[in-house]
Amino acid sequence: MITTVTLNTAIDQLYQIDSCRTGGVNRVQSCIKTAGGKGVNVARVASLAGEKVIAAGIVGGFHGAYFKSLLAQDKIEGCFTDSGVETRCCINVRDKSTGEQTEFLEPGAQLTEKALEDFYQTYLQCVEKSDVITISGSVPAGTPADYYGRLISTARKAGKRVILDTSGSMLRGSIAAKPTMIKPNADEIRQLTGIAVSSHEELIQAAQKLHDGGIELVVISLGGDGALVVSDEGVFQGVCPKIEVVNTVGCGDSMVAGFAVGMVRKYPLEATIRFALSVASANALHEKTGFFREDDLKRLLSSTIVNRL
Ligand SMILES: Nc1ncnc2c1ncn2[C@@H]1O[C@H](COP(=O)(O)OP(=O)(O)OP(=O)(O)O)[C@@H](O)[C@H]1O
Ligand SMILES: [Mg+2]
Repeated sequence: MITTVTLNTAIDQLYQIDSCRTGGVNRVQSCIKTAGGKGVNVARVASLAGEKVIAAGIVGGFHGAYFKSLLAQDKIEGCFTDSGVETRCCINVRDKSTGEQTEFLEPGAQLTEKALEDFYQTYLQCVEKSDVITISGSVPAGTPADYYGRLISTARKAGKRVILDTSGSMLRGSIAAKPTMIKPNADEIRQLTGIAVSSHEELIQAAQKLHDGGIELVVISLGGDGALVVSDEGVFQGVCPKIEVVNTVGCGDSMVAGFAVGMVRKYPLEATIRFALSVASANALHEKTGFFREDDLKRLLSSTIVNRL
């Protein structure tokens, strides 16, 4: 089983507008509301792939209750502790005439020590039941800098595999807890190393350093250019076929889900990389974030290439 952790939850609202005008009235053509947060995307994709998943995290208030009902509609088992404060809403405005997307992300309320401690106790139960734990996204205000590190150490001590997908200081500060896998994109690896790495050679060098420091699997995702993977079994490059992209939001989360599924199913590493890249690309073919269609995945599995470097 897979547990996904999302501390920074939200009700995501996608507003589709024919032609968006700033400073004027805009009539929204359609509004799609989903339980949001990067870990929730991971849960949705892993569940669609056929795995048993628990989406864990923190929500609160009326929005928290609504969040849980949206999750239930997606048939995902939730394990959310109550923060005692309203869960935030995030709005993504998609202008159909330009394809441009404008996001409005509420800051979210500050988490209390009690909410974080309550979640930790719930997390312990989820860890016991799981083979793989994914920890995704940023953290709400009030979360101590070592909180992710604590979650990682707890799971690792219990012999579970942990995939960490975050950025900035939270990524930097949590590396010492040695998650099994990290999945920085090119920007995140630059933030992490503090060096303007850009060529594949430089990116591999940076990943190799992190691997030598005790991270079993370092995956650098490169958008449409695929991914580079440094592991005990060697260095690999995953190459995606050219596709008609509809929406790339959540591709990284889908990739994390793909790796988690590969780990649970004990696929060999090369097969896991192919599966993760294919699921991620399949997500880009659909409007919905953290979603893929089975026929797209099948096609992509046969056209995604994994090379040993
Ligand atoms: N344009 C694209 N065409 C094909 N596949 C893509 C494209 N963009 C992303 N992907 C797939 O998704 C994977 C992850 O994408 P990306 O590197 O953009 O992640 P990210 O920046 O972490 O995304 P997120 O917004 O979810 O955090 C890529 O390695 C690739 O497999
Ligand atoms: Mg990402």
